[in-house]
Amino acid sequence: MRAPFTEDARPGRMLSAGSVPRSDRPTAALIDLDALSHNFREVVRRSGGRKVLAVVKAQAYGHGAIRVSQHLLGLGADMLGVALVEEGRELRKAGIGAPVLVMGAVYPEQAEAIVRWDLTPLVYSRAGAVALADAAMKMGKDVTVHVKVDTGMGRIGLPPEDAGSFIEEIVKLEGLRLQGIMTHFADADLRDKQFAERQMQRFEGLMHVLDEKGIPLPVRHAANSAAVLDYERALFTIVRPGLMLYGYSPLEGERQDVDLRPVLSLVTRIAFLKRTPAGIPISYGRTFVTKRESLIATIPVGYADGYRRGLSNCGEAIVRGLRVPVAGRVCMDMTMLDVTDVPGVCEGDEVALIGAQGSERITADDIAAKTGTISYEVLCGISSRVLRVYI
Ligand SMILES: Cc1ncc(COP(=O)(O)O)c(C=O)c1O
Repeated sequence: MRAPFTEDARPGRMLSAGSVPRSDRPTAALIDLDALSHNFREVVRRSGGRKVLAVVKAQAYGHGAIRVSQHLLGLGADMLGVALVEEGRELRKAGIGAPVLVMGAVYPEQAEAIVRWDLTPLVYSRAGAVALADAAMKMGKDVTVHVKVDTGMGRIGLPPEDAGSFIEEIVKLEGLRLQGIMTHFADADLRDKQFAERQMQRFEGLMHVLDEKGIPLPVRHAANSAAVLDYERALFTIVRPGLMLYGYSPLEGERQDVDLRPVLSLVTRIAFLKRTPAGIPISYGRTFVTKRESLIATIPVGYADGYRRGLSNCGEAIVRGLRVPVAGRVCMDMTMLDVTDVPGVCEGDEVALIGAQGSERITADDIAAKTGTISYEVLCGISSRVLRVYI
């Protein structure tokens, strides 16, 4: 039996619903590995050939962590970044041996699992560092760690003022191997880099202190996608992008100099087509009523797939190269489209909810703008029951 999350398209298949096996529900996220390669090369180019820690948390932003990680490592990524110990374990169980940084909060109770799976956690508290060192000693191994410094994000991390003495203390712990230091920007996506500059000053100040103390920290990182694209000073020894790998820019406003290709398309096929007279209500709450004789298509996609309910009566899809509106409320498993103006439309026709057909394109940014969120949430929100097909 195939794994539920992934499927490989046969070679030569197009980036369309035609790539989805006919025996499956035709709703799928198509993952364009060429686009992923292109975006990875952009990361390398924009970061001046620095090492790359590819962020693959949250199922690689909805693209499928295992296949995306394998692909990026094949292209030369040096490290992977996840949020959870469980995400790291999933990569290890899939046979991925590359260094994996766990960038989220770590509980002392998770120390043994971290050591067992050779993950690289962040340390930012004495209790956490001691639990990791104890687990490593108990298991007769070393645990490699990076120190997390909070320079202005206000999330996990030590204030830079305390980090120096903390580091001096933890380097003495047997079993713990300090490899790196990192911080995270709160708003490097803004054109105005005033606050990012303040964060940089705090981070650089700390590194100066550590250098003076002679504490070796070979791996230093801060650059998310925003910094890779627009803040050269923050590139340090390794960059840590997520979003741009998947083809989207986090930067404020349109930027001509950003060359990224969306990796994911969300596609399906028309399940049912009906002709209705004027005055017929469609979907829950009867919020849409046909104004004319209409053709209404039902597609097997709903909010349980991550096609957000906020797209009710305002979302759009592409059918036969034409944009069509969502008619009525998005249901849990189905959505209706008004396809009255699509000549020749048929049951089984391909539908793009994210992606391109002909000259039309709908992006995760378009959906985010309509639903009051960001592309990150749209991509991560595509649920696990949507088959990922790699092309
Ligand atoms: C600690 C950390 N580093 C890097 C990233 C990647 O950020 P982006 O997807 O904006 O490149 C994230 C994502 O949220 C993060 O939490």
